[in-house]
Amino acid sequence: MLQVDCDEPASSRMLCIDILSLFPEMLEGFFATSMIAKAQKKSLARITAHSLRQWAKGKHFITDERPFGGGAGMLLKPEPIFDAIEELKGKHQHSWVVYLSPEGDLFSTPKAQEFSQKEHLIFLSGHYEGIDERVREHLVDEEISIGDYILTNGTLAAAVVVDALIRHIPGVLGDEASLQQDSFFDNLLSFPQYTRPEIFREWAVPSILLSGNHQAIQQWRQEQRLRRTQERRPDLWKIWRQKHSEKD
Ligand SMILES: C[S@@+](CC[C@H](N)C(=O)[O-])C[C@H]1O[C@@H](n2cnc3c(N)ncnc32)[C@H](O)[C@@H]1O
Repeated sequence: MLQVDCDEPASSRMLCIDILSLFPEMLEGFFATSMIAKAQKKSLARITAHSLRQWAKGKHFITDERPFGGGAGMLLKPEPIFDAIEELKGKHQHSWVVYLSPEGDLFSTPKAQEFSQKEHLIFLSGHYEGIDERVREHLVDEEISIGDYILTNGTLAAAVVVDALIRHIPGVLGDEASLQQDSFFDNLLSFPQYTRPEIFREWAVPSILLSGNHQAIQQWRQEQRLRRTQERRPDLWKIWRQKHSEKD
């Protein structure tokens, strides 16, 4: 398990992220690879996954109970969650507590960008039927959903959010221009990309991409972005058109 101390940030621009889950081991490989590992190596972010059981009391370290009023399944108890989050907030001046929840606001690129500018994020992952409502009312700052479907628990949802936000921390990506050609930048999808070989199974790369004319290539790519967005995502296309007609 990758455990990095976030009590004494190495630099003031370092984003500290704590993930609270019943299954932190689900994240082991994820944190050790790609951009997540790079962000930590460069001290741009510190990400730590914690087991909620660490804060559970009693002989059996119980974290869940039956819901009052009956019904299916179990709920995470409030006490270990309050104790954990109050401790994790520790020395941080500005902590932001996010509960991964199917009832939350739908996660998006602007939200990833917003999170990347925080000082300290705590992601709370639910399990079973969810968590006691008093945690949501009195401890959580924001609820985020990663889509209209139900996961077994919020750990993978937290990983999705962390993966997306980490790309927005300056210095994490090799070439930050790539953020601007990603889908959802300026409410557009991305454009088609090709690599070697020039001809594969008789399918040739569009000749414009081999022309060396950078201005024409940029123009072609922008046209492709507009066309794809219009065809595949009418909802985004509508927003883009509104924004751009206001500018004109
Ligand atoms: C089985 S779900 C509970 C679903 C809950 N009974 C409901 O209907 O809203 C268990 C946990 O998975 C996480 N989860 C499930 N779906 C999610 C989604 N779409 N986005 C973010 N988190 C999700 C939440 O943390 C949730 O507490």
